[in-house]
Amino acid sequence: METADFDTELSLFKYDNLEQLPPEYRDLDEAERTERIEAAKVALGDDVVILGHNYQRREIVEHADFIGDSYQLSKEAAAADAPYVIFGGVTFMAESADIITDDEQSVILPSMEASCPMAGMAEALQVDAAWEEITTAAPDADIIPITYMNSYADLKAFCAEQGGLVCTSSNAHRAFEWAFERGDKVLFLPDKHLGENTAHRLGMADETAEWDPWDPEGKDADEVAESDIVLWDGYCQVHERFRVDHVEQVRDEHPDAKVIVHPECRREVVEAADKAGSTATITETVEDADPGDTWAIGTEIHLTNHLSRWHPEVNVLPLCGDACMDCNAMRQIDPNYLTWVLEELVEGRERNVIEVAPGEKELAKVALDRMLEV
Ligand code: 13P
Ligand code: SF4
Repeated sequence: METADFDTELSLFKYDNLEQLPPEYRDLDEAERTERIEAAKVALGDDVVILGHNYQRREIVEHADFIGDSYQLSKEAAAADAPYVIFGGVTFMAESADIITDDEQSVILPSMEASCPMAGMAEALQVDAAWEEITTAAPDADIIPITYMNSYADLKAFCAEQGGLVCTSSNAHRAFEWAFERGDKVLFLPDKHLGENTAHRLGMADETAEWDPWDPEGKDADEVAESDIVLWDGYCQVHERFRVDHVEQVRDEHPDAKVIVHPECRREVVEAADKAGSTATITETVEDADPGDTWAIGTEIHLTNHLSRWHPEVNVLPLCGDACMDCNAMRQIDPNYLTWVLEELVEGRERNVIEVAPGEKELAKVALDRMLEV
């Protein structure tokens, strides 16, 4: 099988047109900033749409036209007519929006430093090399690669080229089913926990093998040959933090509490929780709760704080208290950056535009379109 040949560098920041915030925007106070953001939005009218991921800070989601999980935001991006889409999220989300939107639309990531570390754990160059080894270990198998949305465009392109697709945490099980209708093995990248949780949901918990690209001992060709699902050894440090004893402790302290966690959490944490789901599922669960219910939330702290603010009738708790983390990548989208990119657009200047390279874009779109169809 031919493998992809993309011009990929192993680097944290994928775009070298990264522009830093001008000094005059660094110390704006909230009242002034809010006024300026709203004025710029009025001046731009229908020319701009602001998308905000659930993990963005309050000062970003308050100005967003749509707030949602990765899947909802990719659908909003696909439906957007505005010439400018400002993405309150991380690089891989803005890349996906650029792939899905028309060529005349510009996708702006206010700070180009918003790079998800998990996406960096499976670089296309590295996966391309591993593909060689994995396909050699199972020469008779038809292996379908599936990449989680939390990956860069070149890896999405690689998956398309090898007959695979993209998924988010809300449709991973459907992507696996799609793949098993077409092949006999899945290589899932980069999040081993989402992969394991999905295997479990499909009753395939005993069919998995791990592939650790950094450890020669972590690659067992026999195991790969015998397993239906090969899990790349990537993870999210925000979600790996949650442990079963956090679930037990919250239940001791709040006997009525129910627990919901993101499927990027470890298998045993998902097992111990009452429910698991994407950030949209977590949001809907709190929205649907009865007044006085208690929900402990195992995900990035900003979403927990939003839910607590938006639903004061529900007792919303962070699953591991003060130890719950914010996402350092999401935090890079500072409201001062939002003010700057908006005011620059009013002046006719586009800043921090994410532009996926043309060849890569077409292929990655195939993988994303397959996802939107499953
Ligand atoms: P969602 O797809 O649930 O929004 O999650 C994205 C993410 O980055 C979780 O860490
Ligand atoms: Fe990446 Fe984790 Fe942040 Fe999500 S929470 S963007 S997976 S680092």
